[in-house]
Amino acid sequence: MLDRVTYGLSAEAAGDASIAPFAHSLEYPGGRADIWLTRLSEPARDLSPARAALAHRLVAWRAHCEESGVALAHDADGAPRLVAPDVALALSLAGRGDIVAAAVADGPVGVDIETIGEAFSPPLNVLHPTERAALAAASDAHGLFLRIWTAKEAYLKALGTGLLREPAGIEVRLAASDATFAECPAFDIVDRGRRVATRLARAGRTDLAPAPVVLACVVLEL
Ligand SMILES: CC(C)(COP(=O)(O)OP(=O)(O)OC[C@H]1O[C@@H](n2cnc3c(N)ncnc32)[C@H](O)[C@@H]1OP(=O)(O)O)[C@@H](O)C(=O)NCCC(=O)NCCS
Repeated sequence: MLDRVTYGLSAEAAGDASIAPFAHSLEYPGGRADIWLTRLSEPARDLSPARAALAHRLVAWRAHCEESGVALAHDADGAPRLVAPDVALALSLAGRGDIVAAAVADGPVGVDIETIGEAFSPPLNVLHPTERAALAAASDAHGLFLRIWTAKEAYLKALGTGLLREPAGIEVRLAASDATFAECPAFDIVDRGRRVATRLARAGRTDLAPAPVVLACVVLEL
């Protein structure tokens, strides 16, 4: 059930008059995901207005309509939903520090980003036992954790549950390579022992000057 609260925010209201998104456009059989990222002029405590402004702009671009014709809402679990225009597109949003991301696709989509920063002890309780083993064997455990975690959050957003689902019950199987987001192979998701059918599943670094971030995007089979 949608709460029907619409956003009408301009980029100025989002605290950055010059949102100039960095874009990835990824084709898959039967559709396309468009992912826009932007770095704000400074970190914001509440990134929701900036996420909404970016989402309005991306949806308007993808649906060929005016930004004023875009209306967004949240469902009961907090997932963003497109109220207008009336098009068969799904939306996902993310933010961290001074960065916001929005993704639009033809099927259930999830996007997540993490800044890379200083290495920290990963919270092992959110990881599947296989992921913990992969981390223990990794030469760059921090980098691997960030890729696993963004991938898992992107999946949980595509499902629409977010962390209402127990993340340790989901296993992300990344290819060993540390390729960039644009070049990385698809990862596999095994949820409670069953392989998930995805149209797109990528997680990797992407440049967003002055520093790269880790970006993940998942589009589920309908
Ligand atoms: C999804 C979730 C993991 C993201 O948390 P986060 O890492 O702090 O935040 P991110 O920047 O990565 O993402 C924030 C965006 O996730 C999206 N989101 C929130 N809940 C979501 C859900 N259940 N499914 C899909 N996307 C969701 C929203 O678009 C949100 O941005 P917005 O509120 O400005 O629209 C977390 O919000 C969550 O688990 N939410 C669901 C459980 C919950 O608390 N529900 C409350 C009912 S309103």
